[in-house]
Amino acid sequence: ALDTTAPGATELTATINGKTVAGRAGETILDCARRHGVYIPTLCELHDIDHAPGTCRVCLVEIKMKHADKTHLVASCTTPMQDGLAIDTRTPELREMQRLQVELLLADHDQDCATCIRHGKCDLQDVAQFVGLRQNRFFDPARVAARPVDESSPALIRNMKRCIRCQRCIAICRDGQGVDALIQINSGLDTAVGLRHGLTQKNSACVTCGQCVLVCPTGALGERDETDRALEMMYDPELIT
Ligand code: FES
Repeated sequence: ALDTTAPGATELTATINGKTVAGRAGETILDCARRHGVYIPTLCELHDIDHAPGTCRVCLVEIKMKHADKTHLVASCTTPMQDGLAIDTRTPELREMQRLQVELLLADHDQDCATCIRHGKCDLQDVAQFVGLRQNRFFDPARVAARPVDESSPALIRNMKRCIRCQRCIAICRDGQGVDALIQINSGLDTAVGLRHGLTQKNSACVTCGQCVLVCPTGALGERDETDRALEMMYDPELIT
C-alpha cells in the first residue's frame, strides 16, 4: 500500500463538512476523515491489513469535485482523496441511504440481540443507532433460519445467522495470519463465509488463533466459552453481573 505518511507525500486541500483539511495523495477519504477526527461509520473496512471490499456501503459520503456542480454519493473507504474535493459526511439524503444499507444488512440477520455474545459491543448495533434506524421492513425469518451454525470446533462458533458478509474474517485469516482457512461461498443473497473444501471449522486448517473473532463486527464469530456463558445467562439471570 502507498505510504501516505512518508515525508514528501503529496499534500492536497479539500473540505470536510465545510472545514478545510490537508489531504494526502493516495489516501482514501475515510483515512483522511479519520486523521481529522471526523467519524464515518464502517463495517467491512480493516485499515491494518488494507481490507476495503466496499461491501457494507455504510461509509457513504457525499462529494462534489472541483469545478463540478453535481454531488455524488461514494464509499469513502474505496474513494481516493482529490484536490479541491468538497466532502460532506452528514446530509439528510446521505443518512437516509446509510439507514437503507443497514436495514438491508438486517434483512437476514438474527434478531435475537439479547442472547448474542456481542450484545452491547456490536459494531452493527452501534452503526444502526448512529444512522438512526428505527425499522426493519425487509426482515425475512426464513432466510435467517436457512443460515448454518458451525459448532464443530471446541474453541469457536461460527454463526452465519449473524454474518453481514463483510469478509473481515476471510481477510485476517488469509492476509493477517497466513492460514487462509476461510473463503467466501455462494453468491448473491446466499453469499456466506465457509471453510475451504467444504470442511467444518474443526476439520479445516483453522488454528483457532481467534483473530477472526476479534475483527468480526457482529456476533457471527465467537469463542465457545463466551457463547456458552451467554446461553447460561439466558437460562439463569442471576449469573448476570
Ligand atoms: Fe466502506 Fe464497508 S466500510 S463499504
